[in-house]
Amino acid sequence: MNKKLKPDWAGENLLSQFVNLLIQTKPIYKVMKHQARQVIIKTAEKNGIPWRKNYERLAASPVHDYLKAVTNPQVTYPDYYKVPFHAYDEGNLCWQAALEAPSATYSMALRVWKNEPLTWKAAHDRLRGSFHDVLGIHAPQEVRDILDIGCSVGISTLELHRYYHKQNHPVRTVGLDLSPYMLAVAKTLDTNSEISEWLHAPAENTGLADNSFDLVTLQFVTHELPSEASTVLFREAYRLVRPGGAIAIVDNNPKSSVIQNLPPILFTLMKSTEPWSDEYYMFNIEETLEQVGFNSPVTVASDPRHRTIVARK
Ligand SMILES: C[S@@+](CC[C@H](N)C(=O)[O-])C[C@H]1O[C@@H](n2cnc3c(N)ncnc32)[C@H](O)[C@@H]1O
Repeated sequence: MNKKLKPDWAGENLLSQFVNLLIQTKPIYKVMKHQARQVIIKTAEKNGIPWRKNYERLAASPVHDYLKAVTNPQVTYPDYYKVPFHAYDEGNLCWQAALEAPSATYSMALRVWKNEPLTWKAAHDRLRGSFHDVLGIHAPQEVRDILDIGCSVGISTLELHRYYHKQNHPVRTVGLDLSPYMLAVAKTLDTNSEISEWLHAPAENTGLADNSFDLVTLQFVTHELPSEASTVLFREAYRLVRPGGAIAIVDNNPKSSVIQNLPPILFTLMKSTEPWSDEYYMFNIEETLEQVGFNSPVTVASDPRHRTIVARK
């Protein structure tokens, strides 16, 4: 039985502080950033995700034409969002991050079942399926209006929308993100316009109506946020969810032995590209959800690396 609440490489432990010191040393950080990128692209291509081809195909699509249409010029970006992220100096606010995001999203699933001979597509279906399975048990049975916060290039949004759509009732789904580049790609990939709206807004202040969703999801978003931002975001989600509705969060599981036992090279590379990771591993999501008003959250280890938390209003 794994009793540790979080990995030693995150938070305030000595090991964590040592890694942070390395990352803060500019020339070392530069090498790490480069290494992290190489590892990610190599792993993807070795597993059949044509990273460079996907990039070129998207770059040649009408994606650039959508940028203006999805951008809300009134949006201002919080400081935590403007820092380098995922080895991109401009974080999520650039074309390169957005055009590479579909491949990066599919690669994420490959890390979950490393020792099983799954194709990237099968791994990705299983990753999304494990989240949907938890929703099937713990989220409301009647779901008509869905908000996917931090939708990125919309892969999580489309999969979620189709999961509920398959259950034979009409659903209205909105994807929200702070990066207009990501949203332009989402609009490009949503070829049949299944999603009602791709909304450019900060999750902390969406401008959407009170009590207007049955389900608000955050899929792999919270580990990218400082805890203060997550708290404000949860408060906003509470305002948006109808009584009886739910918030559902899937993200890295601090108690997972796979995460806790990551080899030093991998956790160092991960920490070097995810600036708020330490805060995430120290943050008590369940307690904060209750503080903003949600009822007793349920936490399920939905796959070997991730946990899903569902809480009702
Ligand atoms: C790892 S991606 C999410 C991936 C996607 N949900 C999936 O499961 O494939 C995190 C996303 O959260 C978005 N994000 C981060 N902070 C945000 C905020 N304050 N408001 C809205 N979106 C935010 C980022 O722009 C990024 O696209």
